[in-house]
Amino acid sequence: MKTAIFYGSTNGNTADAALKIQKRLNTDIFDVGKLKNGDDLAKYDLLILGTSTWYDGDLQDDWDSFMSHLTSADLGGKIVALFGLGDQEGYGSDYVSGMRLIYDKVVEKGAKVIGAWDDTGYSYESSASIIDGKFVGLALDEDNQSELSDGRIALWCDQLELALKESA
Ligand SMILES: Cc1cc2nc3c(=O)[nH]c(=O)nc-3n(C[C@H](O)[C@H](O)[C@H](O)COP(=O)(O)O)c2cc1C
Repeated sequence: MKTAIFYGSTNGNTADAALKIQKRLNTDIFDVGKLKNGDDLAKYDLLILGTSTWYDGDLQDDWDSFMSHLTSADLGGKIVALFGLGDQEGYGSDYVSGMRLIYDKVVEKGAKVIGAWDDTGYSYESSASIIDGKFVGLALDEDNQSELSDGRIALWCDQLELALKESA
C-alpha cells in the first residue's frame, strides 16, 4: 500500500513526530507548507495527515492554506489516518481540536479514517477531536508529556498496521 505523511508544523513538533512515524512505517513524507498543489495526494492509498492546533482549536497555518487542495482532491477509496499535536494544559478546552477539521473534510470527501486513539492518560477539558470517546487520531503533547510521545507513536503505528491487515 503506497503511504505518505502530509504534515504542517510551525515550531517543529509536528515535523519531529512525522519523521518518527515515517521511520516506523517507511513512508514518503511531505511538509504541506512546501507543496504548491495537492497533486501528491492522488499518488497514495494511505494518507497520514498531521497538524498541530493553533488559535484556540484551529489548524496550523500551512494546513489552513493546504485545506483547499484537500477539498478539491478525490479521496474516494483512500484510507486516512490522523495525528495531532497540542498543549492539553495551556489550551485544554481545545486540545488537538485542529485534527477534527481535517477529519471532517476527509470524511466528507469519501475517505475511510482509521487510527482512533484512546484518551486515557491525557488531562484536558474538551476537544473537538473526540468522537465516541476516542480521539479521531493519535494525540501528542510535546509541551507537557514529551516523554510519552515515542511510546504513543510506536503503539499507534502498530495499531495502524494491524487495522490495515484486518481490512485487507
Ligand atoms: C498561540 C498558540 C496557540 C495554540 N493553540 C492551541 C490550541 O488551541 N489547542 C492545542 O491543543 N494546542 C494549542 N497550542 C499548542 C501547540 O499546538 C503545540 O505547542 C504544538 O506542539 C506545536 O506544534 P508545531 O511546532 O508542530 O506547530 C497553541 C500554541 C500557541 C503558541
